[in-house]
Amino acid sequence: MNEKYLNRIVANPSFQVDEIDSRLFGSFVEHMGRGVYGGIYEQDSKFSNQDGFRQDVLDLVKELGVTIVRYPGGNFLSGYDWKDGVGPKNLRPNRLDLAWHSMESNEFGLDEFMRWCEQSDVEPMMALNLGTGNLRDALEILEYTNNASESLWADLRAKNGKIRPYNVKVWCLGNEMDGPWQLGHKSALDYGKLAADVARGMRQVDKNLELVICGSSGRGMATFGTWEDEVLNIAYDLVDYISLHIYVEENDDLNSFLACSSELDKFIEEVVSIADSVKSRKRSNKKINLSVDEWNVWRLSEFQKKEAPKNWDKAPRLIEDEYTVADAVVVGNLLISLLRHADRVKMACMAQLVNVIAPIRTEKDSPAWRQTIFYPFSLTSKYGRGVVLDTKIQSATIFTEKFGYQNVIDGVVIYNKDLQEVVIFCVNRDACDNQNLEITLEGFPLEAIIEQATLSNTNVYLTNTVSNPLAVKPDFSITAEIEENRVYATLSPVSWQMFRVKVKIGDFHGH
Ligand code: AHR
Repeated sequence: MNEKYLNRIVANPSFQVDEIDSRLFGSFVEHMGRGVYGGIYEQDSKFSNQDGFRQDVLDLVKELGVTIVRYPGGNFLSGYDWKDGVGPKNLRPNRLDLAWHSMESNEFGLDEFMRWCEQSDVEPMMALNLGTGNLRDALEILEYTNNASESLWADLRAKNGKIRPYNVKVWCLGNEMDGPWQLGHKSALDYGKLAADVARGMRQVDKNLELVICGSSGRGMATFGTWEDEVLNIAYDLVDYISLHIYVEENDDLNSFLACSSELDKFIEEVVSIADSVKSRKRSNKKINLSVDEWNVWRLSEFQKKEAPKNWDKAPRLIEDEYTVADAVVVGNLLISLLRHADRVKMACMAQLVNVIAPIRTEKDSPAWRQTIFYPFSLTSKYGRGVVLDTKIQSATIFTEKFGYQNVIDGVVIYNKDLQEVVIFCVNRDACDNQNLEITLEGFPLEAIIEQATLSNTNVYLTNTVSNPLAVKPDFSITAEIEENRVYATLSPVSWQMFRVKVKIGDFHGH
């Protein structure tokens, strides 16, 4: 042990959390603002392919490492009729989108989304309208997407050009049904009954679907806790996952912001406790896992202060937040929190994908660019694969107004057996000072640091813009050192890092 190192991370291959589910690296596309129109789809753009999909966006989605995409909302979902978005485009109606006070042209719908998923190599996660929608609508869309044999809705799909079914596995039973802003918002009892009915019906079609019931749209909701308890009490045996949503923002308090992933840690652990208490009461052997299917940094209070739109515009600019270095460090930390809970968080979707609170931005005449938050996501998705090790942290603390004393260092250690490497993701939440870090990888004779990535900047508010898209990017210089089974590093203030360390093959015991 080196006495000069105040902060320590220790992991051991014998103590494992769980295998990481690749669906932890999901995203979210909602019909909202310029997320779809002008985002993933722009018919008359020089950057678009023959299907009207922005090819530059498709390329960045692949680089981002997105594995599953939730669609079509969001709040939009609760007033949406999927039938408006299929069939010949010239017959598709304009509809009022009450959630975002916009005009929905329906030019892009279910079949376009499925085609886009094929081209971007992602799995679709479909969300069902349980606001204005009902069991019949859910069964009809399921038949349209998944039924192979001749039947009314499968025939319509074939007529629309797709003979083979899409076989969508994951279905969300509504969106944020606990929120009073949600069209068709319900009490936990009413929603629980509807979700159970829909789940039961869907399972009559295919018992192997993976169903997500709505949990709370935020930890601050007055109904948080009782909502989860009630809906799971009704639908426990019929669903596989419960959702939770979290958006964070700085609110002029950088210290608290940098430590805000502690809120996600708590939220996850609380939802796990509630799900498991329902399990115990029911003497059930089934485990409900978590789908964090909306999470990100969002300057929500700024958005809420804005005047509501007066017109019904098509694809207006909505919440196109520009992300800073500090935001990227927080996003990296939220990913660390998701990985730490890999035993229970099996799906997660960063909200959203393009333009609307998104890692990818577009303008009509410029190539798409990466926001700061793109980098921790893409590197975590690329290298955060394998088994999460139980990561012990000993750290100096910082005081935060919102969360009291918090560790200045946070991190998680992953063992990737196939690549014979250990990957460490960590952050320095200190706004002013460097922090030393000693990482001990017990039982792993270390060979070399293969790669180090650091995201930081002396200006923590620097952003990437259309005119300067590469202002913020990771630095890949290797400054850390190894000695036996330890890594020594100095982390700059407000920084996110990744270390990939090669371990000696066959030399370490246990696994
Ligand atoms: O992602 C933006 C909105 O945030 C979604 O439509 C809604 O589900 C959440 O409140």
